[in-house]
Amino acid sequence: MLILGIETSCDETAAAVVRDGREILSSVVVSQIDIFAEYGGVIPEVAARSHLEAMMPVVNKALSDASVSWDEIDAIAVTHAPGLLGSLLIGTLTARTLAILHDKPLYAVHHLKSHVYANWLNSFESKDTSLRNAPSGPSSRASVAPCLARRQTCSSEKRPLDSKQNNQFSMLQKSQIPAFPLLALVVSGGHTQILYMRGHNQFEIVGTTHDDAVGECFDKVAKILGLPYPGGPSIAKAAKGGNPDKYRLPHPKVEGLDFSFSGLKTAVLRAVQKEVGVPISYPSHKLAGLLSEQQVHDFAASFQKTAVEILTEKINFALDMYPKVKSVAVAGGVSANQSLRKALPDAFFPVPSLSGDNGAMVAAACFFEILSGVKPTNPYTLNIYPRIAIDK
Ligand code: KG4
Ligand code: ZN
Repeated sequence: MLILGIETSCDETAAAVVRDGREILSSVVVSQIDIFAEYGGVIPEVAARSHLEAMMPVVNKALSDASVSWDEIDAIAVTHAPGLLGSLLIGTLTARTLAILHDKPLYAVHHLKSHVYANWLNSFESKDTSLRNAPSGPSSRASVAPCLARRQTCSSEKRPLDSKQNNQFSMLQKSQIPAFPLLALVVSGGHTQILYMRGHNQFEIVGTTHDDAVGECFDKVAKILGLPYPGGPSIAKAAKGGNPDKYRLPHPKVEGLDFSFSGLKTAVLRAVQKEVGVPISYPSHKLAGLLSEQQVHDFAASFQKTAVEILTEKINFALDMYPKVKSVAVAGGVSANQSLRKALPDAFFPVPSLSGDNGAMVAAACFFEILSGVKPTNPYTLNIYPRIAIDK
């Protein structure tokens, strides 16, 4: 089954063609990072306009990279929730129109499901995603990496377990794809949740953040430190030259499997103010100018270490609470973080290029929804839900 996946929930315009939920024939992602780096964050109206410009060229390139025609596409999948209202509208209206025009079944997919299902996708050597030279018809063949072999290598390359730190993980089943029941740790710019999955397309939220998402926390701390948007990759880069033990930052005391990240952001703010010797009323946007380069590195490293520890502690606690769980899958933009990957050596992670928003994960999630009996939606009435939870 060939599914065209379309994703526009935030600031990436993406489309991909995926075979049977696992094999990526093409994946095109046009990011608006360059636009929003200038402003230090996403401006929803600008994001929607940029999606509108990029959407059809991205869909056409996804089809041409995969060398498939509309006749060969079996279904269209699109993100309809959650996300920015204007951004979701562009993707869903495009998908609805294409479904009617080409007479294809249309499936609406929740963004967090897509992130989780990125763990089922094989690795993919992305082609040049520049649209400037995009061929207009389905003519060029995508360079699809021998993915399964790669995944096998990855799993056999897994680091040995540190028995003290990861004893819960030693109980997990090792396989090439996540086994059920599983725990998914979703860590993105808008969400931080632990999901329990009994089987395909069965999601139960067992932990969630009370305030900020961890990705949002990376972005806000990066702003305090004067590092460019998006904050996650900037912090990770700056942390490389820093001492993670230089500043001691608190772990929030949140019961059960829930999270809180706004206190950590404030703790960094207070520590920076203290370090440079200014009162707490000092404007935070002027703080970065008072920090030395080394201090920025040290703060980035100390913050990243603390954020990763908080996530690791909770997932280990979750494994204690759910002893029958066979695997852990990490998902969402923050799953690109190398330090988090090292801290959870036996968890599944998407290949780094599929950690962020992309169309392939939408197509993958749709395939497993279809397998579990989900029916197509009405292309004339499909709605968007900017804030709906995964289990609603
Ligand atoms: O999943 P995603 O692309 O979009 C949402 O659904 O929100 O996640 C974006 C988030 C941003 O907050 C970004 O700073 C964070 O993922 N991120 C990272 C890294 N790469 C992206 N956070 C930590 N380390 C990274 N390497
Ligand atoms: Zn996302």
